[in-house]
Amino acid sequence: MTIIGAGAAGMMAAIIAGRRKRRVLLIDHADKPGEKIRISGGGRCNFTHLFSSHENFISQNPHFCKSALSRYTPYDFLDLVEKHKIAWEEKAKGQLFCQGKSTQIVDMLVTECRDAGVDIRLGAEVLGVSKLGEGFIVTTATQTLSSDNLVIATGGPSIPKMGATRFGYKVADQFGLDLVETVPALVPLSFTDEAMEPLKALSGVAVDAAVSNDRIRFEEPLLLTHRGLSGPAILQISSYWEPGEAVMVDLAPGTDALKTLKLDRAERPKLSPAQWLSERLPTRLANHMASSCRYDRLADMPDTALMNLALQVNEWRIKPGGSEGYRKAEVTRGGVCTNALSSRTMEVKSVPGLYFIGEVVDVTGHLGGHNFQWAWASGAACGEVC
Ligand code: FDA
Repeated sequence: MTIIGAGAAGMMAAIIAGRRKRRVLLIDHADKPGEKIRISGGGRCNFTHLFSSHENFISQNPHFCKSALSRYTPYDFLDLVEKHKIAWEEKAKGQLFCQGKSTQIVDMLVTECRDAGVDIRLGAEVLGVSKLGEGFIVTTATQTLSSDNLVIATGGPSIPKMGATRFGYKVADQFGLDLVETVPALVPLSFTDEAMEPLKALSGVAVDAAVSNDRIRFEEPLLLTHRGLSGPAILQISSYWEPGEAVMVDLAPGTDALKTLKLDRAERPKLSPAQWLSERLPTRLANHMASSCRYDRLADMPDTALMNLALQVNEWRIKPGGSEGYRKAEVTRGGVCTNALSSRTMEVKSVPGLYFIGEVVDVTGHLGGHNFQWAWASGAACGEVC
């Protein structure tokens, strides 16, 4: 069998199939396997999330990922990590990272591939595939290979400079499979130049925030950048953001700013708006917000002025001009429509022997290790049968 794409999903499928004594050829056009694993998690690879469930994924069919996720769990991957004596830590709740480098995860997978007898062929760009009888023909720049089963594990187009391609979508199209529209996800959001101008001085400010639209809410850190907004809260909401839509930012989640302002106006009347804000927000942000308030003391502020200030804190409504695109996106939302695939095996229902796994499929995880968990789980589901 041939697997195209030696990333997270492709390597996992190769290991599981190889352990079943299948003859596996794993091909990638990159010179090294698992390049996205290497750069993941800030170089520490957030390799899974202990509480990963179907609720952490976006897909036209939210139930599709359930079967694979339930059969290869975060603890199965953790067993592998511990077998290889890789030190790990839980950074935020459920988010497991390497204590050392993410290349330890790549090395672990390569070792497992070798132990399972997988033939890894790098620097081999696959130009096209075709069906021949019961099997498939895979054409690279230098070779024509035949294979009984064919697994497409070529990921999505995020970070093209890392060798990401739309190859998987082309194959899907060739075999008549539907594609769910693809867009950059887990990506910083940007403002128009005009909207950015007054915020430029705040670049680098980080604050714990709750970011929401009418469909979902995330409470995580937010970062102001020279282009717009980033940080975990923004990356998360970006996966749910549609162009033209506004996003609501609560800069002090858990604080009812209006209620607190009214109380403080009565009990601490000499407090300035800037002081009040800096008790809750980073000083640079507090001063910026206070600069548009023309009162020196809370005591002088009528209810309408308190309300305006409170709205800035609890309901900052932003309208991003766009996102930073595939160049900066951690993943791609959308992909091969799950209707075409068996949720148990990832095999294309209409083309026996053809499989799609990992990010190329219309299953997109939240930030926090869920995308790798999907890659491991979908890879394992395929590797068990292909
Ligand atoms: P992946 O992209 O890993 O692999 C696809 C492979 O196919 C590549 O090796 C590519 O070279 C190859 N390929 C493509 N076209 C080809 C062709 N025509 N011929 C031959 N080979 C071809 N997720 C997470 O859970 N935790 C994290 O910490 C992070 N961090 C993170 C940081 C950054 C900067 C990015 C960009 C992404 C993450 N992710 C993440 C997301 C995670 O990296 C991603 O979801 C998985 O790598 C997807 O695994 P796949 O195996 O599906 O694709």
